[in-house]
Amino acid sequence: MSDASLNLEILRTRLSDLPISGIIYHAITGSTNDDALDWINRGAEDGCLVVADAQTAGRGRLRRNWVTRQGSALAFSLILKPQPTDNLALYAPLGALAVARALEDLGAANPRIKWPNDVLIERKKVCGILTEAAWQGDVLSAVVLGIGINVASSAVRLEDDFRFPADSLQNHLGREIDRLDLLAEVLRSIFFWRQQLGSPQFIQEWNQRLAFRGEQVRINRPGRDVLAGEVLHIAPDGVLWIRQENGEETPVLAGDVESGIINRTPEE
Ligand code: BTN
Repeated sequence: MSDASLNLEILRTRLSDLPISGIIYHAITGSTNDDALDWINRGAEDGCLVVADAQTAGRGRLRRNWVTRQGSALAFSLILKPQPTDNLALYAPLGALAVARALEDLGAANPRIKWPNDVLIERKKVCGILTEAAWQGDVLSAVVLGIGINVASSAVRLEDDFRFPADSLQNHLGREIDRLDLLAEVLRSIFFWRQQLGSPQFIQEWNQRLAFRGEQVRINRPGRDVLAGEVLHIAPDGVLWIRQENGEETPVLAGDVESGIINRTPEE
C-alpha cells in the first residue's frame, strides 16, 4: 500500500478543510459502526467520524460479516444528524453516489450502484455500505453511514465467502491507491450530495449509475419470495421498480439484487 499508515494526526490534517467535527481512529476495532453508535450515546455531533485500519467484527447488510484486514481497505463510519424532512432511505445511496463519484475521479471505469447501495466496478463489488439509525425514544437522533472500500488487492482473498463477485481498486486500476486521498474525496462528495439529498439531480445521478438497468435480475427479499424481472428505474422515494415477466411493474422496497448473468464465485 503506497499510503502512509493511518493515524489520528494525519487524518486530522488531511480532513481539516471538511466539516468533520471530531475523529476517532482505531488501528483495530470491532466495528466502526458500533463505535459510532456508542459515540452517539455519548453526545457525538453531526460530522463525527470513526476510522479504523482493521475491523474484527465488521458488519454488512442483512447480518452479514464484512472483513477489513490491516492496511488493505477503507473502513469508516460518519455520523450525520438528519433534517426532520429527510428521507432516511436515501442516506445509503448518498454514500454510494459519493463513493461512485470519488472512484470515477480516480480513473475507475463506470462505477455502478447495485441497488440499493453497493458500488460495483465492472460488475464486481468494491464497496459496501451499512446505514444504521440511532433513536432516542421515538425521535431519530442520528444516522451512521458506514462505508467499506476494498482498496488494496489484499482486501479480497479467494477464501473470503463472497455472495457476490468482489474486486479491489488496486486490481482494477493496476496501481496502488492512497487511502487518505480516497477518504477525503469520498467525504467531500458526501457533503456535496448531502445538500442535494432527494433532489431531482440526486435521483437522476443515481439512476444514471444504476447497475443492471434494462437487464433481467433476481431480487432476494428477506422473508419473502424471490422476484425476477427487468430493472427499470429508481423512483424519487428511492424505491426500485422492476418489470416482471408477466409485464407487471412492481416496486421493490428491500432486498438484494442479483444479475442473471454474473459469473458466480465458487464459494457461493
Ligand atoms: C454490505 O456490503 O453489506 C455493507 C458493508 C459495510 C461495511 C462497513 S465497513 C465500515 C462500517 N463498519 C461496519 O461494521 N460496517 C461498515
